Amino acid sequence: MALNLDDAKSIYEFVVTEGNGIKGLVDSGLSKVPTVYVQPPNERIDKENAIKLELPPIDLSKLDGPGHHEVAEQIVRAAETVGFFQVVNHGVPLQLLESLKETAHKFFSLPLERKAVYLAPVSPSPLVKYGTSYLPEKEKALGWKDYILMQYTGDDEALRYWPEEIKGVLLEYVRSSIIMVKRLLGVLLENLGVKPDDSLIDVLTGRKTLAMIYYPTCPNPDVTIGIGRHSDIGMLTVLLQDEIGGLYVRIEEDMNYEKKAEWIEIPPIPDALVINVADMLQVLSNGKYRSAEHAVRNTNTNSRVSVPIFTMPLETTKIAPLSQVIQKDGIAHYKEFMFVDYMNNVYKNALDGKKSLHFAKIG
Ligand code: OGA
Ligand code: NI
Repeated sequence: MALNLDDAKSIYEFVVTEGNGIKGLVDSGLSKVPTVYVQPPNERIDKENAIKLELPPIDLSKLDGPGHHEVAEQIVRAAETVGFFQVVNHGVPLQLLESLKETAHKFFSLPLERKAVYLAPVSPSPLVKYGTSYLPEKEKALGWKDYILMQYTGDDEALRYWPEEIKGVLLEYVRSSIIMVKRLLGVLLENLGVKPDDSLIDVLTGRKTLAMIYYPTCPNPDVTIGIGRHSDIGMLTVLLQDEIGGLYVRIEEDMNYEKKAEWIEIPPIPDALVINVADMLQVLSNGKYRSAEHAVRNTNTNSRVSVPIFTMPLETTKIAPLSQVIQKDGIAHYKEFMFVDYMNNVYKNALDGKKSLHFAKIG
C-alpha cells in the first residue's frame, strides 16, 4: 500500500491496523516521519541545550541500617526538588530487569495478530490495552511509540487476562516493586509528619497500572517526541529504562533568577530503577513534593523500551492535602476530590505538561 505521509487519518489507521504499530511503519522502510508525528517546535526537546546532571543513584540497601537518616534525606530532597531520582539495591532482582527488557522487545516484534487483539475497541479484557499514541483524536501531533497497558487487580486476573508472552515477568516485577514503593512512601510520609501506617499506604497505592512501551527508531528524532510533556497522575512511578536514553525532566522557571525552564536528561544507569513523584503526592504534600513534568525523546539509532509501573490511589479515595501539612503551612493549596474524578479529567484532555493539576488547585 502506498502511504500518503500527509494524510493523518490514513497513517493512523495503517499504524493501528495492518501496520503493526509504529514499529511496522518503520519496518516498512519509511525514511521520513509522517506529518502527523511532527511536533510543533515548542514541544520538541532540544538535545543540545539539555542539561546533563549526574545525580548519583540512591542506595536503598542502607535504608534499614545505620545510614537510614542519610538515605531518607536523599529521597526527600529529590522529591522536593527534581521530582525524579534513581535507586540501586532496590530489591527488584537484576536478572528480572534484564528479562523485562528482552521480553518487551520480543513482544513488540510479535506478528500484529498477537497484539491487535488488545486494541481498545476489541480487547477481551478492560484490563489490557494495546495502542499507539495517547489520545489520537485530541493530540495535535502524535507520539512516536507503541505500548501495551495493563491494570493489576490481583494475581489471578493478571494470569487470566494479561498477554501470555509477558505476564510472568510483569507479575514478578509488580510484586517486587510494590514493596519498594511502600518503603519509599513510608519515608516521604514520615517526613510530612504522618505516621506511615500500612493501611493508608495500601489505599494510596491500591491502583497499579503497568506498561511496556516501545519507542521505535525514528528517522527524524529532532522533530518528533516519544511521549509529550506530562506529569504522571498517581503517587509514585517506578520506571525501568534501557541503555538507550531519551528521558527528560523539566525544571521549572526559577522566578527569582528569571531562569528559563530547562530539560535535564535522566541518564540510563545500569541496574537502577527510576522513581518519579506524581500528581497525587504533590497534592497530599500540599506542593512540598514535586510531580515532575517529563517527556521522552526518540533516537534514530536504536529502538528503546521502558517498563513503568504507575502506583495510584484506589478510585474512590478522597484526596486532599494531609491535615498534618496544612497545620504546618496554614493554608491548603489544593481542594478535596475523589481520585477517579481527577483521573477522568486527565483522560479527557491531550497531554499538556502539568496542566492536569489545575483541576485540584485552589485559587
Ligand atoms: C510514561 C512515561 C517514560 C519512559 O509512560 O508516563 O513517562 O521512559 N514514560 O517511557
Ligand atoms: Ni510519565
